Amino acid sequence: MNDNNIYPIFDKMLARTDKEQLLKQRGMMIWFTGLSGSGKSTVAIALERELHKRGLLCRILDGDNIRTGINNNLGFSPEDRIENIRRIAEVGKLFVETGIITLAAFISPNNDMRRMAAEIIGKDDFLEVYISTPIEECEKRDVKGLYAKARRGEIKEFTGVSAPFEVPEHPAISLDTSKIPLEESVNRLLELILPKAKL
Ligand code: ADX
Repeated sequence: MNDNNIYPIFDKMLARTDKEQLLKQRGMMIWFTGLSGSGKSTVAIALERELHKRGLLCRILDGDNIRTGINNNLGFSPEDRIENIRRIAEVGKLFVETGIITLAAFISPNNDMRRMAAEIIGKDDFLEVYISTPIEECEKRDVKGLYAKARRGEIKEFTGVSAPFEVPEHPAISLDTSKIPLEESVNRLLELILPKAKL
């Protein structure tokens, strides 16, 4: 008997290692963090293609997609951003435990929330990638026109303009997409990931 009447059945299900043997790969979370417009999704999409070509099964979780689905009830207050990342980490963990190389592309602006994500997923399965493109470049690109809106005060609590972004303390790798071409970012990630991913 227990207090909340919930009885997880994890011990009866096939194990993560069974899935990993089937896929001949190791599950892991590649966690991209960086400002809006820094290139997180672009790098994740290009990386996914390269991993896929090498026979590795991947899944991208991306800010704008997740926020129109599972997290469509969340905004950008500090509390909602934490809940956004908590749910993503819990969902991401399910993918990782299925042996899938999971690429998460979210601003995730604070050290605390990135730490929370790493703790939920498990530190050994968590690789932090900081897309360090400076705000000047993100704002110059302004692909979605959101920086302009934020400067005009039409979007509140916009990261980098009216809400904070904390630079990650110990990312596995930092990539500035204003300095290095996409192909090089992907190659550097492949060097990091492939030795860990192949079984
Ligand atoms: S996070 O801070 O909670 O991690 P997330 O990555 O899910 O953010 O969503 C960021 C995307 O939402 C941005 O790329 C942008 O398109 C959009 N967005 C809308 N409002 C905001 C805002 N106030 N701050 C940052 N991004 C916003």
